[in-house]
Amino acid sequence: MTDPQAQASSVPVITIDGPTASGKGTIASRVAQRLGWATLDSGALYRLTALGVLQEGVNAEDVAAVARVARELDVAFRGDVILLKGEDVTNRIRQEDIGNLASRVAVYPEVREALLQRQRDFRRPPGLVADGRDMGTVVFPDATLKIFLVAAVEARAERRYKQLKEKGFSVNLTDLLEDMRARDSRDANRASAPLVAAPDAITIDSSGLSIEQTVQAVLDHWSARLA
Ligand code: CDP
Repeated sequence: MTDPQAQASSVPVITIDGPTASGKGTIASRVAQRLGWATLDSGALYRLTALGVLQEGVNAEDVAAVARVARELDVAFRGDVILLKGEDVTNRIRQEDIGNLASRVAVYPEVREALLQRQRDFRRPPGLVADGRDMGTVVFPDATLKIFLVAAVEARAERRYKQLKEKGFSVNLTDLLEDMRARDSRDANRASAPLVAAPDAITIDSSGLSIEQTVQAVLDHWSARLA
């Protein structure tokens, strides 16, 4: 019988990790589109856990209860639409209150463990582009290409501001910048799977690059890896 684990590990993965609003999601989905591969938005799973915690009235300090929410998440990804218990929560999980709570519950190793296999299950032929914080370090340490995408905090705050405005949310740039610094520091300093570049990752600074230029930079690294 074929070992499904061994079979999965032969599927190529490109990981794109980096701080909040560095453009990982957009870049990952465009790279995947160009290669005809699937994507994993791992941050969405932490955001969904945060939303589940709110909806179920779970105390966010109660690690075991939060891990249970993560383990039992009833979620479906339908193209760009994300359903939690059958309800469309695509826009709701992008709001800043959810992002901030996601970053708080992501600190718990039990929550990370609860989401681990769910993330690995996205690895299917012909390939996967996975974005997050620990894709190259913890979830897919054997990934074929690892990118660490960074950008100046001001550039990231501006991008997030535009993104949220376009979705019709009311936002304040100064608050965003403050939240973002807090989130960067929490993500980088936590004990479990902190935000750090894998030793074999390639760092791309997108502060002065357009989306297309960044996508092209990733694809160029991929072609070089194949050559
Ligand atoms: O959009 P943004 O980059 O702010 O966040 P996200 O990628 O949607 O992730 C939301 C939160 O989940 C982050 O602030 C991280 O704390 C956490 N996260 C994580 O710990 N590990 C991942 N692989 C992905 C996200």
